[in-house]
Amino acid sequence: MQQRKYHTQTAYVKSALIACVGILLGLNGSAATASDSTTNSLSNSMAHAAAEMPTLNAHRAMINYIIHCQGCHLRNGEGSEGGAPSMVGVVANFLNAPGGREFLLRVPGVATTALDDAATAEVMNWLIFEFDKDHIPADFKPFTPDEVGHMRKKPYVEEAEKIRAELIDYLNSN
Ligand code: HEC
Repeated sequence: MQQRKYHTQTAYVKSALIACVGILLGLNGSAATASDSTTNSLSNSMAHAAAEMPTLNAHRAMINYIIHCQGCHLRNGEGSEGGAPSMVGVVANFLNAPGGREFLLRVPGVATTALDDAATAEVMNWLIFEFDKDHIPADFKPFTPDEVGHMRKKPYVEEAEKIRAELIDYLNSN
């Protein structure tokens, strides 16, 4: 019984994903965005952000996040003990420290993702608004594919944790 329920749920999730991909393939970006209620409620909740969310396909960004990032960061960016740190209410704050923008793109999860430069930039632009719009500097410039391409040539190997701690120290004392 339990087993069957699990399969039914899996089948549901699969068909939902297939439907999403169908929408993405079948329609161009703006049509897909306009017809999707998740995306619409997302933009509504962003109406009060100090910085404006760059033009992007939020639905595609979310699917890419689910496929490539959620395994470690979890669905709502909350992370887990001993896994990835929580991004909720904190991730955009790194943009307020010198070197913080670079840090966000050089962490291994971002720099070495299978996503291409454009899709990575889109996920990053989406996630900082999704998880921490209140800390986005008012003069924030969207991450660009070129910038991602440049930064991912020098991914952190072991130094991410140390640099992260230094940035947090800076933010706490400024
Ligand atoms: C294998 C697990 C893993 C995956 C997959 C992963 N990350 Fe991470 N991520 C981490 C860990 C751990 C950190 C903390 C820094 C470090 O030690 O690398 C981190 C840090 C970050 C940070 C910096 C914020 C902070 O608080 O340190 C961002 C932004 C980020 N990840 C985004 C992403 C995105 C976007 C993806 C998908 C494209 C992704 N990550 C995939 C584990 C992962």
